[in-house]
Amino acid sequence: MRKTKHVECHIDSIELRTAEFCKRMDARISIIAFVVGVVFMLSLFYMSTLENGGLVMTKIVPSIYLGIIDTDRAESRREELLNMLPRINRHGVDCWRIFAGDGEEIKKAQKITFVQTIPDRDFLRLTRNCTSYRRRGYMTKPVSDEEERYPIAYVVQIYKDLVQIERLLMAIYRPQNWYCINVDLSMGENVHLGMIAIASCFDNIVINSVDVAWAKMSQVEADLTCMQLLYNKNKDWNYLITLAGQMFPLKTNLDIVRILKSLNGSNAVAAVTKRRNLERWNHLPTPSIPVRLVKGGCHFAVTRCFVQYILFDKRAQQFKNWTSKTSFPDEHYFQSLSHSPKLQVPGAYTGWPENGENGYEEIMRYAKWCYDESGCHGKFVRCVCIFGVADLPRMANRHKMFVNKFYYDYEPMALTCMEQRHYQWTRQDILGINDDRINITFYRNLPNVKHHIPSGLEN
Ligand SMILES: *[C@@H]1O[C@H](CO)[C@@H](O)[C@H](O)[C@H]1NC(C)=O
Ligand SMILES: *[C@@H]1O[C@H](CO)[C@@H](O)[C@H](O)[C@H]1NC(C)=O
Ligand SMILES: *[C@@H]1O[C@H](CO)[C@@H](O)[C@H](O)[C@H]1NC(C)=O
Ligand SMILES: *[C@@H]1O[C@H](CO)[C@@H](O)[C@H](O)[C@H]1NC(C)=O
Repeated sequence: MRKTKHVECHIDSIELRTAEFCKRMDARISIIAFVVGVVFMLSLFYMSTLENGGLVMTKIVPSIYLGIIDTDRAESRREELLNMLPRINRHGVDCWRIFAGDGEEIKKAQKITFVQTIPDRDFLRLTRNCTSYRRRGYMTKPVSDEEERYPIAYVVQIYKDLVQIERLLMAIYRPQNWYCINVDLSMGENVHLGMIAIASCFDNIVINSVDVAWAKMSQVEADLTCMQLLYNKNKDWNYLITLAGQMFPLKTNLDIVRILKSLNGSNAVAAVTKRRNLERWNHLPTPSIPVRLVKGGCHFAVTRCFVQYILFDKRAQQFKNWTSKTSFPDEHYFQSLSHSPKLQVPGAYTGWPENGENGYEEIMRYAKWCYDESGCHGKFVRCVCIFGVADLPRMANRHKMFVNKFYYDYEPMALTCMEQRHYQWTRQDILGINDDRINITFYRNLPNVKHHIPSGLEN
């Protein structure tokens, strides 16, 4: 595992920490002095009786002293982290009962229509003082050493209100991770300026502005420019995840780190072969390179080597040229390359891609489409289910990392309960009581994890 440096956000937060640390030291110095005094007296006694003074003075006394400081630091770090968690108003609803499928509680939650809105332009005001802005609920310290050593890169494409983007960001933000947010310029100045203002409060969020047209190559371009930015910005991340602004995590950052590690260098890109839409490229000659054409999800997790291949390999560029003449390229450009073992694409699946068959399961996102038999208690917008409160029990114990999608103002308790659970779990992670929420064996046994082109991350 590569060791990575922790990314500090701002000078003022460092000063703040130093001041708090000194205050705490003042308060505890007397306790330490007392303990040291007792140890010293005991050791005098021990030395006088056993003539073993060397050991006592060089090993035992320093280790007791350092032990006190270590537990002290760990405790104050936990305290500080717990204070960073956002406060969620549950409106008197017991979200755990909803996840457990309690019909009464679901009905109660569906009746709650209160929506906390923040106009996009208000983010300029809220971010004027970054110290206080970050205290709205961002984790500005790594939750655990394991996470700190395993930064993740995120590409997020946003299309709607900042108030919901902020809620997604709070859930996935960690100081060691890297974020590239693509703002579609057609969303208007307020969203654009507001997003720039939010990003300016963090050292690890960059803004990209590619105008995105539906079903066009610009969606792929937005991902590509963000990938390039993140690739250049930092070389410590092993995986890159693409998201949209109305998704929400089903797992905590620690869970996601463990899932990514268990992928053993394979990509998590969903794909189908039978149900691909041939009419999207049938008017073209077949590509000149041995690429396997599939259709798949436009949100995925890929390895750094895959990103490098996409950015620098000549065949990836050739395929991009071909892809630019097809429709809905965002559903087959990255996906086809990630299923083309003949091209030796890093992380690519070497088996036959058919999502939902032979244990080849999508683990990136939980979503329901208008042609799915069941599983949507919300409403369909452009064939995608906008999940409601009654959908939460079904997604409760999924192996998937994210959900697509929620509207913060449609059955608002749906997103609120997701947050409630997410932060309860984050709290457990802080306290070090994440007792195997995820089943590593499941991920290890996925066919695409077992059979893939190496990415340099295998172990
Ligand atoms: C910013 O907010 C913090 C925390 O609320 C406060 O301590 C600090 O004085 C503010 N800074 C400025 C420049 O107003
Ligand atoms: C892609 O297409 C452009 C313009 O059509 C051309 O200049 C370029 O050489 C092509 N690149 C590759 C790698 O085929
Ligand atoms: C973990 O996943 C494996 C493989 O899917 C399964 O056989 C096992 O029963 C699961 N363990 C638990 C505790 O759910
Ligand atoms: C990870 O992949 C490598 C190379 O394919 C393989 O040798 C190794 O056994 C895999 N590790 C696990 C735990 O599956």
